[in-house]
Amino acid sequence: MDRASRKIEHIEHTLKLSSIETRPFDEIKFVHQSIPNISVDEVEINTKIGELNLSSPIFINAMTGGGGEPTIRINRALSKLAKKYKMGMAVGSQMAALKNRSERRSFEVVREENPNGIIISNLGSEATVEQARAAVEMIDADALQIHLNVIQELIMPEGDRSFSGALDRIKAIVENISVPVIIKEVGFGISKEVATKLANIGVNMIDIGGYGGTNFAKIENLRREDSLELFNDWGIPTGASICEVKATQPFISVIGTGGMKTGLDIAKAISLGASAVGIAGLFLKQFHENDFEGLELTVERLHFELKMVMTALGIKKVADLRKVPIVISGETYHWLEQRGISTKNYALRILPN
Ligand SMILES: Cc1cc2nc3c(=O)[nH]c(=O)nc-3n(C[C@H](O)[C@H](O)[C@H](O)COP(=O)(O)O)c2cc1C
Repeated sequence: MDRASRKIEHIEHTLKLSSIETRPFDEIKFVHQSIPNISVDEVEINTKIGELNLSSPIFINAMTGGGGEPTIRINRALSKLAKKYKMGMAVGSQMAALKNRSERRSFEVVREENPNGIIISNLGSEATVEQARAAVEMIDADALQIHLNVIQELIMPEGDRSFSGALDRIKAIVENISVPVIIKEVGFGISKEVATKLANIGVNMIDIGGYGGTNFAKIENLRREDSLELFNDWGIPTGASICEVKATQPFISVIGTGGMKTGLDIAKAISLGASAVGIAGLFLKQFHENDFEGLELTVERLHFELKMVMTALGIKKVADLRKVPIVISGETYHWLEQRGISTKNYALRILPN
């Protein structure tokens, strides 16, 4: 199957699967504070991820491009949305356009729609420094994401079977490229061991892309004749992965992606240690069902909900969400305790004045 048809199949299968509800943050609860002493108007939701300043802690995460006209249409709409709400946006893997120039349009349209926005390039860890430079140049990107997707490749019948040398290639890109580099997963989470390996080669931004949202094991299985189901429930849940990375590498800026559906999910991800959150599947589904208006209403709902949560907690700035006490229970509690990450450190935080 050619790359462009595969991109379209990924979209179709995501739309089929995203109706299955997951609630990755149910086990994490804020401690209610009855005297918040602020008003909604005082709450500000701008944030910083590494060197990037963003007006919203939500950014539109890497999805598409490289699948002809349908992907031009999706990327144009997402880019308009990013412009309207001053959100960051990552494009899908640009390898398709590096291999086939006729696919460049589906990526270039993103910069065309939003000439001054924060736009992030995307390639896999097979990329060379030259390819990374070409991807950034193609859309005049402000940062570059390198995705790690071993499980997806293993399930994909036409996927890679060798993963040697990825860390060396990432190191070469980090050392030789002029924009910040974000290493990201695609829904299986980043462990503390991987975060340490990445920190040791100079990476300072990780998108943990955790388990609990779009499930690429299931998506790839829908594309196989003989389903390889053993990976369907594989991965580090989003909340646990944020804690794994942040508790071990506190100087790494974390982006919390994987199953964000409400402003409360976003507030919890930030409280666990994320500087911002990425959303992919929810936007795709909204665009498919309700067009651009669906995208606008979704962002407005998420911003509104986030402000409500921050007001209830008495928090005026997004970064201060990381100071409020949260209680972690259930499987996430057991996961973290067994991994040597104390959940008490979260529950016993001192609320800022
Ligand atoms: C249709 C589709 C295509 C995707 N393609 C890419 C990609 O090319 N590169 C990448 O890094 N992540 C890709 N992702 C993964 C997302 O960036 C994100 O990590 C993942 O979907 C989890 O977020 P979610 O639960 O909000 O969907 C894709 C996701 C979807 C839904």
